[in-house]
Amino acid sequence: MRVFIAGMDGYLGWSLAKYLALGGHEVGGADAFLRRSWVAEMGSDSAIPILPMPGRLDAFAAREGVRPRFWELDLRDSAAVRDAIAAFRPDAVVHLGECPSAPYSMMDADHASFVQANNLQTTFNLLYAMRDAAPDAHLVKLGTMGEYGYGHVDAPIPEGFVEVTMQGRRARIPYPREAGSWYHWSKVHGSYNVSFACRLWGLRATDIMQGIVFGSRFRDEDGALATRFDFDEAFGTVLNRFCCQAAIGEPLTLYGVGHQKRGFLPLGDSMRCLELALTNPPQRGEYRVFNQFAEIYDLTGLAHEVKAAGDRVGLSVTIEHIDNPRAEREVHGYEAAHDNLIALGYEPSLDLRGEIDRTLADLLPHAARIRRHRDALYPRVTWRGGADDTQPSVEALAFEA
Ligand SMILES: NC(=O)c1ccc[n+]([C@@H]2O[C@H](COP(=O)([O-])OP(=O)(O)OC[C@H]3O[C@@H](n4cnc5c(N)ncnc54)[C@H](O)[C@@H]3O)[C@@H](O)[C@H]2O)c1
Repeated sequence: MRVFIAGMDGYLGWSLAKYLALGGHEVGGADAFLRRSWVAEMGSDSAIPILPMPGRLDAFAAREGVRPRFWELDLRDSAAVRDAIAAFRPDAVVHLGECPSAPYSMMDADHASFVQANNLQTTFNLLYAMRDAAPDAHLVKLGTMGEYGYGHVDAPIPEGFVEVTMQGRRARIPYPREAGSWYHWSKVHGSYNVSFACRLWGLRATDIMQGIVFGSRFRDEDGALATRFDFDEAFGTVLNRFCCQAAIGEPLTLYGVGHQKRGFLPLGDSMRCLELALTNPPQRGEYRVFNQFAEIYDLTGLAHEVKAAGDRVGLSVTIEHIDNPRAEREVHGYEAAHDNLIALGYEPSLDLRGEIDRTLADLLPHAARIRRHRDALYPRVTWRGGADDTQPSVEALAFEA
């Protein structure tokens, strides 16, 4: 299968390029290296050193004998996107090329506008390019479980749609979205746009509501092929950030009470799920939604898993609660379906302990790099902005719990 990866230089994009190429697929992709500059803007760097794209491609070709095609282009440039899609003639397009950070989108008006504009424009350009140059191709669009929101409904979250009875009639309607940041709302808007394009032009699409991905690799490989691994407050997701904190002896920081629950999956599971979606495409005109995660964890439980992993290698890891920079529930119930991928053969790997051990082992040689950017671990971006008397204190929420 010929797969075009928009956002191929990113955490998931570079992993997916390798994973699919190793699986015998023909891979092409594009990126403008924006993630590298966003992380620098946050005063940080990838914990694990990464090569520039030409070096990555050379290293992969030397090791595996195949070289994915690559276009350095900004996905906001509609003509460039159309030309790349027309040249590559993909069977499928995986859209990873968005800004993935909630805190980055909450910094100020400029960052909020940038994230929403970038994420909507890159999606529009891919949709139009597919309509014009690859109308039969399958779009796999990365959304997030965060589109649904967390803990506001006391019932399991379905996969995209919900059956309701309205005035005595049954209807299948999109499940109400309750996103918690401008970034997450950009994903909601993107989902509606992709769904409309399928109805409008007969495109086929899978919208992946993905949980939080963690881990440094999906198989053993040398450093030249490493994918990026971030830990700053904006681009380091929670479990990866905990692992970096443990590796340098900083406390693991829980936001507020720390009983937020989220769906998680290791990097290798994410790759497997995306391949399953790709190799089982929907019909033309169909828009479908998959919830993609392995398990739901409570963040306090995860912090204790990382602490235990640290203890196993002789690190002395502590856990601290800090005021929550976000506006979110800190103690809540959370259930979500993830049956569609399992029906296609996904078996969650369920090796949290092993994944954390491997990640810590990959990070420890780079402790000095992480320590150099230690300040970036701590949140400065607040959801409500400035001094905020309306945000309940950690103590008040602990009492509620
Ligand atoms: N990593 C996770 O835990 C996670 C969870 C849920 C959903 N997702 C989604 O998966 C996708 C990939 O996530 P990731 O963690 O690999 O993020 P990432 O930032 O590492 O990858 C995105 C890539 O897209 C590129 N990009 C963004 N805008 C671009 C533009 N205008 N032109 C060219 N390139 C552009 C960036 O440079 C980057 O390399 C995102 O859409 C994200 O929202 C990620």
